[in-house]
Amino acid sequence: MQKIKKNFIPIIAMILIFIIDLSLIFTTHNNWNNSMTKYFPLKNEIQNLTFNITESHLWFEEAISGDKTINLEKDVMKGFKHKKFSEYIVKAEPLLNTELDKEFYERLLVLDDQVDNLYELAIYRWDFSEREIGNDLDQEFDEAFNTVILNLSDFNNVLNKKTNSEFENKEIFFSFVIIFFLSANFLVFILLFRFRRESVRYEDNIHEEKEKAIITLQSIGDAVITTDAEGYITYLNPIAQELTSYTNEQARGKYLDLVFNIINESTRKPVQTPVQKVLKEGLIVGLANHTALINKNGKEYSIEDSAAPIRNKDGVIIGTVLVFHDITKQKKVKEKLNESEKILIQQSKMAAMGEMLENIAHQWRQPLSLISTTSTGIKLKKELDDLDDEFLIKSLDMINNSTQHLSKTIDDFRGFFKPNRTKEIFILEDSYTKTISLLSSKLLNREIEVVENISKFEINGFENELVQVLMNIFNNSIDALEKKEGIKVVIIEISQIDDFAYIKILDNAGGIKDEILDRVFEPYFTTKNQSHGTGIGLYMTEEIITKHMNGLITVVNKSFNYNGNEYTGAMFEIELPIK
Ligand SMILES: Nc1ncnc2c1ncn2[C@@H]1O[C@H](COP(=O)(O)OP(=O)(O)OP(=O)(O)O)[C@@H](O)[C@H]1O
Ligand SMILES: [Mg+2]
Repeated sequence: MQKIKKNFIPIIAMILIFIIDLSLIFTTHNNWNNSMTKYFPLKNEIQNLTFNITESHLWFEEAISGDKTINLEKDVMKGFKHKKFSEYIVKAEPLLNTELDKEFYERLLVLDDQVDNLYELAIYRWDFSEREIGNDLDQEFDEAFNTVILNLSDFNNVLNKKTNSEFENKEIFFSFVIIFFLSANFLVFILLFRFRRESVRYEDNIHEEKEKAIITLQSIGDAVITTDAEGYITYLNPIAQELTSYTNEQARGKYLDLVFNIINESTRKPVQTPVQKVLKEGLIVGLANHTALINKNGKEYSIEDSAAPIRNKDGVIIGTVLVFHDITKQKKVKEKLNESEKILIQQSKMAAMGEMLENIAHQWRQPLSLISTTSTGIKLKKELDDLDDEFLIKSLDMINNSTQHLSKTIDDFRGFFKPNRTKEIFILEDSYTKTISLLSSKLLNREIEVVENISKFEINGFENELVQVLMNIFNNSIDALEKKEGIKVVIIEISQIDDFAYIKILDNAGGIKDEILDRVFEPYFTTKNQSHGTGIGLYMTEEIITKHMNGLITVVNKSFNYNGNEYTGAMFEIELPIK
C-alpha cells in the first residue's frame, strides 16, 4: 500500500515541475510580450518622428533659403506634425504600470509639448521668412529643434537599453527555466528509477515469500485450510485435500462447514468449526478433544486442530487458517500404551502385594508363635491343674498384645493398598516411619542397620504412593544386602531446601554395575531370578515420582565412610516439590 503511494511521488513531482515550468515560460513570455507591445510601437514612433523632424528641418532651412521647389505643407510642415504620444499613452496605459513607465509617460507628454512647440515655431518663423537668416527667431527655432532631437535620441537610447535588457533577462530566464526543467526532470528520473528498483525488489520479495509460503503449505505435514473473512474456503494444502477428499478446485468458494465436517467422537453429534469463533473473537482457537473429521467419502479421522485469524498489516482480519492433523494412529497407539500401562500397574500391584505378604509373614511370625506358645502353655497348665490366675491374666495380656500387633500390621497393609485419590498434606517423616514399621522384621532378621538423618516437615502429595516408593527402594537394598557378609547398613537422609524435599537412600551392598545403571528404571528390567523379581519396582517408583508427584529420581554408585570403614553402594536421590 505504502509502496504504491510512494510510486506516485515522482509522477506528482513531474506534473508539478511541468506546471511550474509552463507557468514560468508563460509569465516570462507574457512579460516580454507586454514589453514588446508597450515599447516597440513607441520606439518606432520615436525613430519615425526623429527622422521626420530632421528631414523637415532640412527642407525648412532650404525653403527659408529661398528654394521655391519645396512644397511647404507637403514636404516640411507634415514632418513637424506627429501623432501625439498621448494617443499611444491612451492605448498603452493599462500596460504602463512600473515606476519607469510612469517616468516615460511624463517624458512623452513633455516631448508632445516640445514637438507642438517646434511646429508652432516653424509656422511662426515661416510667417516671418522675409527676415534674414540667423535672426533671433531662427535661433529659437533651432534651439527648439535641437532640444526635441536631443530628447528624442535620449529617449530612444533609454528605450533601447530597456528593450535590450528585457531581451537579456528573457534569455537568462529561459536558460534558467531550461536548466531547472532539465535538472528537475533528471532528479525525477533518478527518483523514478529508485522507486522502480525498490518496487521491483518489493514485488520480487513478495513473490518469493508467496512462493515460500505456498511451498511450506504444500510440504507441511499438517493439513491446512484457509478461508476468507466470511468463512469461505480459499485454499487447501495437499494433506487437507487428502483428508477431506476434496480437491482445491472443488473446495474453493465453498463454506468451510461443508468441507470440514466434524463430529464429537463420543456423542457422534456435529461440532461447530472453530472458524466462526476465530472471526468473531479474533483469537487462536483449539478444537475440543475427541473430534473426528468425516470426509466426503464418509471416512472418519480422529483429528487435532487449531484455527487462527489471518490479519493484514493494519490488524484487520482478512481470513482464517485452520491447521489439523490425523491422530487416528497415535490414538490407537496411545490406547494400546494405556492398556499396557494398566497391565504394568496391575503387575506392580501384584508384586508389591507379594512383597507385602512376605513382609506380613515376617511381621506375623513372632506374634503368632507367641500366641501359639502362650495358649499351649495355658492349656498345659490347665491339664496339669496348675493354672493360677496371675499366669492366666499375664498370658491373656500377652495374647491380646500380640493380636493387637497383628491387627496393626493388617491396618498398615490396608492403608498401603488403598490408593490416594487426591493430594493431601502429610509429614514426610510419617511415611518413612510407616515404611520402616512394615519392614522392621525383615531388617531385624537380616541384621540390617538403618541410619536415619531426618528433618520433620510437611509435603503435599500422595502418601501411600510415597510409602510404596520407599518400600521399593528399601526392598532392593535389603535384597542386595542379603548376600553380603559383615556390616549391612542403609543410610536415609530426608531434608528440605526451599520448596523442595530431598530423600537420599544409600546402602553398602556394592552398588549397581555401571553397564546397567541407566537401565534400572526400565520396566521388566531385573537381574534377579523370576521367583524373586519382576523388574517393575523401580519403573513404578520413577512413574510415581515423576508423573504423579512432579519430582525427579536419580541413581548413582557412591563410596562412603561408615564407622571408619570404606563402603560402596547404590544411592537413590529423590527431589520433590513440597507444595
Ligand atoms: N540398592 C541396589 N543395589 C544393587 N542393585 C540394585 C539396587 N536397587 C536396584 N538394583 C538393581 O536394579 C534392578 C531393577 O530393580 P527393580 O526394583 O526395578 O526390579 P527388581 O527388584 O529386580 O524386581 P521387583 O519388580 O521385584 O522390584 C534390580 O534387579 C537390581 O539389579
Ligand atoms: Mg525391586
